[in-house]
Amino acid sequence: MSNTMDLSVDLSGKVALVTGGGGILCSQMAKDLAASGAAVAVMSRTQSKIQAVADAITAAGGKAIAVSCDVLDRDALEAARERIESELGPVDILVNGAGGNHPLGTATVNHCSAALLDDTPEGTRTFFDLDLEGVSFVFNVNVIGTLLPSQIFARSMAQRGEGCIINISSMSAYTALTRVGAYSAAKAAINNFTGWLAVHLSKCGVRVNAIAPGFFLTEQNRALLTTEDGGLSERGQTIMDSTPIGEFGNPEDLSGTLLWLASSSSRFITGTVIPVDGGFNAFSGV
Ligand SMILES: NC(=O)c1ccc[n+]([C@@H]2O[C@H](COP(=O)([O-])OP(=O)(O)OC[C@H]3O[C@@H](n4cnc5c(N)ncnc54)[C@H](O)[C@@H]3O)[C@@H](O)[C@H]2O)c1
Repeated sequence: MSNTMDLSVDLSGKVALVTGGGGILCSQMAKDLAASGAAVAVMSRTQSKIQAVADAITAAGGKAIAVSCDVLDRDALEAARERIESELGPVDILVNGAGGNHPLGTATVNHCSAALLDDTPEGTRTFFDLDLEGVSFVFNVNVIGTLLPSQIFARSMAQRGEGCIINISSMSAYTALTRVGAYSAAKAAINNFTGWLAVHLSKCGVRVNAIAPGFFLTEQNRALLTTEDGGLSERGQTIMDSTPIGEFGNPEDLSGTLLWLASSSSRFITGTVIPVDGGFNAFSGV
């Protein structure tokens, strides 16, 4: 199935900030928002990656700046806000895309057993071996890394009486995926927080929604989901068997939902989490 980019929304005059904009999914989101007319601040920690995204947007006729910033650093976020407001204007659309996982917060086996606990092979991690630093990293980047930019950038939206926040959740938020317990719990918190903030800001004209992507083959998960000869790993096959549409997603598959949530055509929609997952979340496996 091919995806067609046939949704057209007019975001001219709007300013968008995409955190995680140097990454695989969110660089596409930054490009989509810019192609729809928004001026875009592309934010991640690595300057070279976000500069390449901003340059690609500019080369395509759009407007973008690269803003290097750690989403967990309040002072750096305040400085970024001042720069974005002076160069582009106040942020109207905030995409909280920065996120990720950490190996030390992840189990290496699907199931624990008494035998594994008696004699845990080198490199094997059950729940009992999860490292608190790895777990904290995952909670911080996904949860605090969504909360803090929302505090810094949505204040002006609330004061002006318009704006929207789009958080990035995951399939692991609904029913936890094996191994990634900390990541799943953190993304579940994103779903819950999306609803809470939507209600909290509902009288200020600010809408808050989230997109829950299904499985997208990216450089981070390619080794986990595929084999060296290009086939599917056992985990990749399990995912494919649970995805009724029968494909991994492409970053462009998120574009329509993103632009719809960012535009006034979704003006009556707030507090939702929209799965873009090829049917994964709807399928019981039977
Ligand atoms: N790839 C998938 O299949 C998938 C599925 C569901 C959800 N997601 C979510 O989508 C979002 C984007 O994922 P991706 O696959 O494009 O990942 P990615 O690693 O390609 O991009 C993540 C980006 O976030 C940035 N980032 C991380 N920590 C940061 C920090 N403290 N401050 C600033 N920037 C920071 C990274 O530099 C990177 O640019 C994440 O929230 C991820 O959890 C991804």
